[in-house]
Amino acid sequence: MRWEPITKPRQIRNVAPNMPDYAKAYAEFSWDKARAQLDGLPGRRGLNIAHEAIDRHAAGARRGHLALRWLGRHGEVRDFSYADLHLLTNRFANVLRKLGVGKGERVFLLAGRIPELYVSAIGAIKNGSVFCPLFSAFGPEPIRQRIGIGDGRVLVTTVALYKRKVAELRASLPSLRHVLLIGSEQQIREIPDAHDFGQLMNEADSRFEIAPTDPEDLALLHFTSGTTGTPKGAMHVHQAVVAHHMTGYYALDFHPDDVFWCTADPGWITGTSYGIIAPLTHGITSIIDESDFDAERWYGILQDQKVTVWYTAPTAVRMMMKVGTEVIAKYDLSRLRFIASVGEPLNPEAVVWGQKAFGLPIHDNWWQTETGGIMIANYASMDIRPGSMGRPLPGIEAAIVRQKAGAVEVVTDSGVEGELALKPGWPSMFRGYLHEEARYRKCFAGGWYLTGDLARCDADGYFWFVGRADDVIKSSGHLIGPFEVESILLEHPAVAEAGVIGKPDEVAGEVVKAFVSLKSSFSPDEQLRRDLLGFTRKRLGAAVAPKEIDFVANVPKTRSGKIMRRLLKARELGLPEGDVSTLEGA
Ligand code: PRX
Repeated sequence: MRWEPITKPRQIRNVAPNMPDYAKAYAEFSWDKARAQLDGLPGRRGLNIAHEAIDRHAAGARRGHLALRWLGRHGEVRDFSYADLHLLTNRFANVLRKLGVGKGERVFLLAGRIPELYVSAIGAIKNGSVFCPLFSAFGPEPIRQRIGIGDGRVLVTTVALYKRKVAELRASLPSLRHVLLIGSEQQIREIPDAHDFGQLMNEADSRFEIAPTDPEDLALLHFTSGTTGTPKGAMHVHQAVVAHHMTGYYALDFHPDDVFWCTADPGWITGTSYGIIAPLTHGITSIIDESDFDAERWYGILQDQKVTVWYTAPTAVRMMMKVGTEVIAKYDLSRLRFIASVGEPLNPEAVVWGQKAFGLPIHDNWWQTETGGIMIANYASMDIRPGSMGRPLPGIEAAIVRQKAGAVEVVTDSGVEGELALKPGWPSMFRGYLHEEARYRKCFAGGWYLTGDLARCDADGYFWFVGRADDVIKSSGHLIGPFEVESILLEHPAVAEAGVIGKPDEVAGEVVKAFVSLKSSFSPDEQLRRDLLGFTRKRLGAAVAPKEIDFVANVPKTRSGKIMRRLLKARELGLPEGDVSTLEGA
């Protein structure tokens, strides 16, 4: 089916878009001009994300402006002005300094959306340390791997998460010097070798001067997954903030009076780049909801908090579509001006549904952990072609490429599928995978950064997502490496071989499905299946563990022993098996 383009009015809710003319903005853009929108540290002492996000506003006219409004699970509300965040993040920076945690050292955060997370993130960056979030739905194994690879020096988490997921790992994490726990004094006293976050904060000085910061100093470490191997720690530097700020302006259309709500989990990069940094650099108000998705709760928040710009994800949109539009009519959403979505393909139906449900289309945009910020987007002023990710941000050169005999060729014919590639050089570009130079280098060829996504570009420069070029799985917007799941399955005494794929799912996009062959002394039955599901869930956490497990006589492999996940997927979906000439035994 062909979807009609959605044309845009000149103004939306009486607000003129920041980018009235895409071609003009793209032609006139320079990163130097974008950098000039930020202040830099006083006395020309460099560029620090925390200064741009908090301190410069706390020292100016936005001092008393609401920076974060936190909505607790049980109806609590806590407000933080820019001045409040200035003092709190100063305190946390002093906590780290007093513990002897310095520049470049990694501070891990394992928590849901609680105020302490936001304070710790900016406080760590202020101290010159590196903020590294972990997904709170991870089980012990993904946590152990990431803190281990990242040489985590500090972990901030809650008592409950610590007891459930971290306590058992402590001995296997030699780099981890300090665990800071959020909870009641009494609970924390009972845990050996841990600090009380609240107590340290109370005792800390609320004055702090940010040390000179080179724009290339490491600020953020975000883990992502590949088809094989361990998780990859994508390193980002302080000047990424130039891209966070610029994309907030163009792709999310931030205006000074906006109330912004990013629904992303803080354990993933969207939760940092847009859940924390970008809106703060603009001095606007962000809403943080501690709870997970609930359609009516969300509409209530949009109404009561007078949200103007809303950044969400396709899985959430699909869940809203299931609930239907009738319920939306009960809410006054007249303040809502701009809706954007990221993380997985946004069905054209969903874009159009937004128009019907909210009177506003949903603007798809595209980026990755490696790119640090939005790269391709649909803009407030630009007509939407439903199903397209939009056009590259100013300052971003994107192309469709093909690799032929070791060379990279740019596909100039419109509509032809190839790998999506970007010309390196934007400020939020990752600077490497921690400790994995070779894996980093493999991402580049012929002067391009190769994204691992397949896409098409039409004659007007709109990009269309086709699929992944590799086997990574996208479930509810979360990237999952099949190898990580297979490795845990292999640790079960009954499992001989395991192959893991993403099985298409109407709501989550994909769900994790495993195919397992058993050692000869075990036979497949329901009890064993349940046992395996429980085993992986306990080790990996609900978000990463397989939802389905099938027993097979053999897991198909190439002659060199590589699992043929594509074949497993084709068989699962009843599709042609394609070239199986390398199949073992073929
Ligand atoms: O495959 C693309 C998909 O998500 C991948 C990046 O995932 P991650 O590193 O977890 O980044 C999170 C920040 C967005 C991409 O390589 N993806 C992202 N956005 C879209 C998308 N797929 C289709 N359409 C999108 N808009």
